[in-house]
Amino acid sequence: MSIKAVDLNFVYSGGTAFEQHALFDVNFEIQDGEFVGLIGHTGSGKSTLTQHLNGLLKASSGALYFNGENIYEPGYDMKKLRSKVGLVFQYPEHQLFEIDVLTDVCFGPKNLELSQEEAEKRAKEALALVGLDESYYKQSPFELSGGQKRRVAIAGVLAMEPEVLILDEPTAGLDPRGRDEILDVIKGLHDQRGMTIILVSHSMEDVARYAGRLIVMNRGSKVFDGTPKEVFRHYKELEAIGLAAPQITYLVHDLREQGVELDPDITTIEEARKAILELWEGADGAGAPEHEADGQAKAGTVGKESSGDIHV
Ligand SMILES: Nc1ncnc2c1ncn2[C@@H]1O[C@H](COP(=O)(O)OP(=O)(O)OP(=O)(O)O)[C@@H](O)[C@H]1O
Ligand SMILES: [Mg+2]
Repeated sequence: MSIKAVDLNFVYSGGTAFEQHALFDVNFEIQDGEFVGLIGHTGSGKSTLTQHLNGLLKASSGALYFNGENIYEPGYDMKKLRSKVGLVFQYPEHQLFEIDVLTDVCFGPKNLELSQEEAEKRAKEALALVGLDESYYKQSPFELSGGQKRRVAIAGVLAMEPEVLILDEPTAGLDPRGRDEILDVIKGLHDQRGMTIILVSHSMEDVARYAGRLIVMNRGSKVFDGTPKEVFRHYKELEAIGLAAPQITYLVHDLREQGVELDPDITTIEEARKAILELWEGADGAGAPEHEADGQAKAGTVGKESSGDIHV
């Protein structure tokens, strides 16, 4: 089971003065259960690409296979595709419109022609998944906080019970707490429900932390595709296309230049913390400070004396 793009091209307003070639020969295959981060500078084609994956936009040329079937074959059931591949747009709260939260989340399943009872059952399950209990059911979506609105919008897509969940910058404009809440919900859907996740993000920190694979777009072309560590090794090339590695990776590189033997592939704060503590322990023998670093202590060149004030 997978989503496979073959030589996907897309041109907006083809044949007019406003013609805009937005995707160039994009190829990839995403397997069931993957957590993919989709990154790229503004205008690189991320939203255009995601809208192909659930059939909202049709490629100008190329093919897209969902579970082995070419969705562009005549007679392909696009409605079914849209229920299997759920897409949460950027600023999805702009699309909340019903009188209360429960009615809003029921909209998708009712569109699938499910009974009112079944639609409500699914809506309630979806709201529970995003951490909104029944006290929210009768609230107006417009009275909620930014993070809560976002969760209602995600529940609206989850209520269709998709196999694949695509989120186009789900944390844009949220405060740090709202951001963490949303990312934790998404991580839970992946880890506990085995859902395939495609997360469009401008945050290198977030994709390094949550995604197992990154697809990098630049001017409509796919330029990198690999694990976060593989991709962030190319941080110089990423900088050239308006991206960067996570900040912690730069700090690790700075420390290495000063002789601290850290793995240059570190991309998350948790990894850096663990590695630094291991070095500290290695240099300090058994007398480690009170913390819960696990694993073997690596021999390191940094000790309390030479490390100065590394606080983790
Ligand atoms: N409706 C449209 N009509 C014409 N051109 C469009 C349309 N939507 C997007 N484009 C163009 O297609 C290209 C890709 O845009 P897209 O919105 O997919 O990029 P993006 O990577 O999602 O950007 P952002 O990070 O700003 O959301 C850009 O050059 C953009 O100007
Ligand atoms: Mg976009």
